[in-house]
Amino acid sequence: MKIIEKIKDAAGFLQKSIGADKVEAGVILGSGLGSFAEQIQEVFSVPTDKIPHWPKSTVKGHKGRVVLGRLSGSFIAIVQGRVHFYEGYSLKDVVFGIRVLKYLGMKSLVITNAAGSTNPDILPGSIMIIKDHINLIGSDPLIGENIDELGPRFPDMSEAFCMEYRDAAKKAAENLSIKVYEGVLAATHGPSYETPAEVKALRLLGADAVCMSTVPEVIAANHMGVKVLGLSCITNMASGLGESNLTHEDVENTAKSISYDLNRLLKSVLIDITGDKQVISRREMQ
Ligand code: HPA
Repeated sequence: MKIIEKIKDAAGFLQKSIGADKVEAGVILGSGLGSFAEQIQEVFSVPTDKIPHWPKSTVKGHKGRVVLGRLSGSFIAIVQGRVHFYEGYSLKDVVFGIRVLKYLGMKSLVITNAAGSTNPDILPGSIMIIKDHINLIGSDPLIGENIDELGPRFPDMSEAFCMEYRDAAKKAAENLSIKVYEGVLAATHGPSYETPAEVKALRLLGADAVCMSTVPEVIAANHMGVKVLGLSCITNMASGLGESNLTHEDVENTAKSISYDLNRLLKSVLIDITGDKQVISRREMQ
């Protein structure tokens, strides 16, 4: 079966469950950040292993689930538990889910992750709005025959992270008194964390943070004309810049401690991006 048929198959399965509504925005939640799903009025929640062709996450802390529901009147889809290149999946599998969401109508994607800071000024516990990325995964999800129905052979990446959304996130953070940074995210394929020498090299390349995800999905979203907002939760100083050894448990625990502010920021910015339908309908009623 061709990829495009698998995408349509999975989208058809989800569409049947949600009825006529179109998904306006998609949200991908990174390690330790799954609690945002509780913020929406859930309409339908499905374990990813029930969705045809959807790859299964094997990482501890990544609950594989798609939650569809409403936030201030708009229909959004939340993916809890993405899959990663380091799990042995191809990058085509890694981006499968967001391609499915595009077929449900998604116009905007908000993507979150846990990341290590390579910038001494950005400390663990911070939220960083991603301004741009550096792909050091060594591959690209668009390699191979282009699926013209999804997007062009050579997609532009000059504003991979939508400027308007970055501004909306800064404004929302200011209103909520949440301190945010803005910076460049590098992605390596992992699963080993970086060495101190690699972290020095990443800093010289212009990275403020490093992760093992996000970049493939951002490339695929741009290919499909979906606008992206990226938020990194800085869970640790990258190797050689902090005091202790890195463990996935510590990364997850710090991510959980950031999730209170991240959830408030996500909610506010999503309502801004999708338009507050409840306010509009209240106005229409007056
Ligand atoms: N490096 C790569 N990925 C990460 C890190 C890190 O230090 N922290 C959380 N994800």
